[in-house]
Amino acid sequence: MAQFDVIIIGGGPAGYVCAIRAAQLGLATAVVEKDKLGGVCVNIGCIPTKALLHSAHAARLIAHEAKDLGVLVGDVKTDYGVAMKRSRRVADQNSKGAEFLMKKNKITVLKGTGTLEAGRKVKVGADVHEAKKAIVIATGSRVKGIPQIGLEIDKVSVISSDEALFLEQAPKTLAIIGAGAVGSEFADIFNAFGSKVTLIEALPRILPIEDAESSDVIAKSYRKRGIEVLAGAKVKKATVAKDKVTLEVEAGGETKTIDAEKVLMAAGRAVNTEGMGFKEAGVQLDERGFVKVDLKTLETTAKGIYCIGDVAGPPMLAHKGSREGIHVAEIIAGHHPAAIKYDNVPSVTYCSPEVASIGLTEEQCKERKLEYQVGRFPFSANGRARASNETEGFVKIIRGKKYGEILGAHVVASHASEMIHELVVARENEFTVEEVDLAIHAHPTLSEAVAEACLDSMGRVLHT
Ligand code: NAI
Repeated sequence: MAQFDVIIIGGGPAGYVCAIRAAQLGLATAVVEKDKLGGVCVNIGCIPTKALLHSAHAARLIAHEAKDLGVLVGDVKTDYGVAMKRSRRVADQNSKGAEFLMKKNKITVLKGTGTLEAGRKVKVGADVHEAKKAIVIATGSRVKGIPQIGLEIDKVSVISSDEALFLEQAPKTLAIIGAGAVGSEFADIFNAFGSKVTLIEALPRILPIEDAESSDVIAKSYRKRGIEVLAGAKVKKATVAKDKVTLEVEAGGETKTIDAEKVLMAAGRAVNTEGMGFKEAGVQLDERGFVKVDLKTLETTAKGIYCIGDVAGPPMLAHKGSREGIHVAEIIAGHHPAAIKYDNVPSVTYCSPEVASIGLTEEQCKERKLEYQVGRFPFSANGRARASNETEGFVKIIRGKKYGEILGAHVVASHASEMIHELVVARENEFTVEEVDLAIHAHPTLSEAVAEACLDSMGRVLHT
């Protein structure tokens, strides 16, 4: 029986990052992975979708803006198959990168499915391995259908992001169910590749966890480019045939019939907890189905068994999982890492324009009866955004009235995913809005809009 200090089950962004930190701290570490290293994020999630979104951006830029920019091109055609193959190369490069990092840090990769065995052991195939200090569960999540309304993922007509990422061509018509991050990003991609997209969201607005003003900008932008956005919409019935799906959708008091070549399910994910020997090992699940953990240590109900990433609870985000991985490795090595601030995890949707946020939405501030001032700055008034034809969106800062703290910040912009971190760092370190403004922002940049929104929340905006 092989012995390690730590055995991590699952080699996604939570698991492999945990392994690197554990190895850095001198622990003999193994990662169990049944598929490719990097998990959903690297192979069928964050990374390939960002590659496809880049292709979508290029398609829009060349088709709609090139002439105005003084770049003359002939007829513009798109080919999803080519973009898909490029996205696969990018994903594979990243997975190979994770393999390299395992070798570099002398981490053993055990290929196969890991299950828990009594006495802090992990079974992989016919072999049993012992973890002297700890086992870390990082098994992640998977897509789910809605069988109750006849939408079981059949991988042909009713697909998930897993299949969408391997299509050879864009469907002529596509209905997307769920307008969270997955649904909204794929709506952007397939619209740019010529599909007629209908985006169906049960809640009253798309990107429902974001600030209402952010949702509004995206809904308006999507409608302008021909995406049919149905919010507050209920799929009553689905009839799946070989080459099309017919949906009966109730929205705004009307029932609509939508025929689509394919339906893409983007209505949330289920966690991977089955067949792991949890019950025997004493690892309990909470009422939502996530592994129950102590939020300070991420230890499960079984001593010496920890859990990180999607399977340990929301938000199901790669960067939250990676941070948990680092945290747990340090705890196992006997360190005392600073607590993870779960209320300061940035959220980003990489549609165009991108939507990024930190902290509370204005609706949440109202619900909590907080006293606040809102500062806004639109990119239509920002020189850099005008220069690059990227004037959609805004920065919105929600400032605590009494102390000037950043209650929440919302950025909708071409590069919101990069801009949000100024506010993440500020909020993590409890800087006030005044302190963010004290820092000189370079000109001309999109980030000047952050400084202006800060000023606006104090009644001192300069450029609107
Ligand atoms: P999600 O839970 O974020 O969004 C699913 C959406 O589907 C919700 O808005 C929900 O109201 C809606 N919905 C549920 N049932 C429905 C129905 N029957 N009809 C219509 N709408 C329905 O889940 P999503 O987008 O699948 O993503 C899964 C996880 O992965 C999330 O935690 C998400 O944050 C994460 N993720 C993050 C990304 C990013 O950070 N850019 C990209 C992709 C996923």
